This record gives sequence, C-alpha cells and structure tokens, in this order.
Amino acid sequence: MAVGRRRSEVRAREIVVAADPAALAHMAADHFTRLAGESVARAGRFTLALAGGSTPERLYALLAVEPYRSCIPWGATHVFWGDERCVPPGHAESNYRMATKTLIRHVPIPRQQIHRMRGEDPDVDQASAEYERELREAFGLQAGGIPRFDLILLGMGRDGHAASLFPGSPALREVTRLVVAPYVDRLQTYRLTLTLPVLNAAREALFLVSGRDKALMLRSVLDGPRGTDPPPARLVSPRDGIVTWLIDLDAAHLLERSATRRDPG
Ligand code: 6PG
Repeated sequence: MAVGRRRSEVRAREIVVAADPAALAHMAADHFTRLAGESVARAGRFTLALAGGSTPERLYALLAVEPYRSCIPWGATHVFWGDERCVPPGHAESNYRMATKTLIRHVPIPRQQIHRMRGEDPDVDQASAEYERELREAFGLQAGGIPRFDLILLGMGRDGHAASLFPGSPALREVTRLVVAPYVDRLQTYRLTLTLPVLNAAREALFLVSGRDKALMLRSVLDGPRGTDPPPARLVSPRDGIVTWLIDLDAAHLLERSATRRDPG
C-alpha cells in the first residue's frame, strides 16, 4: 500500500497511510489541531477522549510544543480517557500518567476540564459508575443520553482490541452503559473503558496504528470478510461520524488496495 488516502462512500471511513511513525504523529497532530479549532468554532468547546498505550505518545509530545501548542484552544478543551488500567494515577501503567507526562502538564487545560478515570479505586464497578456520572454531567445528558465526543483517539492491539474492549468480552455487547469495567482474561486484570455506544456516537474516532506487528490484524479489520465475531476495532464505526485510520507503511504493508481508491467501508 502506498502513502496516501482512501475514503469510503458507504460508511464514513478514511484510511490515511503515513511513511513512518514520525510522519504519522505529525499527520495526527495536524488533524487534531484542525478538529480542535473546528469544534470550538462550532460549539465553543472541544471534547476529546485520549487513547492509552505507546503509539499516541509521539502525538501527545508534539501537541505539547510549538508549532502545535499555541494553535490549539486548550482553554476550551475538555479531556477524558477512552480507557484506563486499574492502577493508581502515578503508576507506570497508567494512561493518565502517560498523557500527563507527555501533554497535560505542558498545556493550559483548566483543571476542572480534565476528567480522569479513577483506576486506583478497588471497587471497579463504582469507578465506572462514577465516570459515567461525570460524563453525563460534563455533556449535560439526560438519562439514556450518549455523549457525542468531537474526537476519540484510539489505538489497536495486535488482537484487535480498541480502548479496553477485548475480543470475546461481554463489554462488546453493552448497549446502555457508557463506561464498564470488564475483566480481561488475557491480562488477568480489570480495565475501565468507554463502551461501543459512546465510541460510535463520536463525530470522529481516530485510530493511530503503527508497526509491522499490527499488519495482520489491520488487514483483518480493514479488508477482512465480515465474520460473525469481528475484531473489536472493526466494531468502531460512528453512526453519524467518521472513523479515520491513520497508519504507517509498516502497519499497512498487508493491505490489499492502494490508499488512493474508494472502498465500501
Ligand atoms: C491501553 C490502550 C489500548 C491501546 C492498544 C494499542 O490502555 O493500552 O487503550 O487500547 O491503544 O493496546 O497499544 P500500543 O499503542 O501500545 O500498540
């Protein structure tokens, strides 16, 4: 697959291929900056859910410095997390810690607009219910309402998980809760995660995927047959929004079609 762009007609899906991880991070930073400005111009604020893992770190570090830092309306940005490990906020595994170290502490987001998942709470169900309440309050939702994020950043695991929605998880079948705390057998731990109804209510879900180790799963997610048990990442398809796949050449090397052709998503 060449560097370039492939846009779907049927379901709003766009695949953009970057030459390497550095180019991917810059493309993501440009995209993020544009979306932030458009969101604030449209609604007076930018609602964002951050991804965890390692891939987004380059992006976060870029956003924290010029030329991006001063182009983003941080004062109107409301930051949430797509998922969190069940560890304290200062733990090496914490997604909050990674985002704070690389981005949050370097930019002027008002403290009350930073919404951390309480991974340290030993009662994971209470932690997920509390975050759900915080979401409803921040988005001014009535009972049954679903928050519509301007941007949800996501990574994809080699097993096709997205956020902390892992293959075979009952959390994939959740249709009413906004936040759940599934037990992840493979990791032998609980996680906190937004549910598919929230991911699929977004204006944009943006996957950042890099590296050859993701290529096989990426082909299955983007080009594979519609099976009965699709990888979780394939279930992210906003009803009234777009899913954008920002991938590097290594991750894209098994994809069949060029990025420049249209495809039924
Ligand atoms: C997490 C993430 C998870 C991540 C993928 C990809 O908490 O780990 O939310 O969904 O995005 O596992 O991780 P890498 O970017 O490290 O490959």
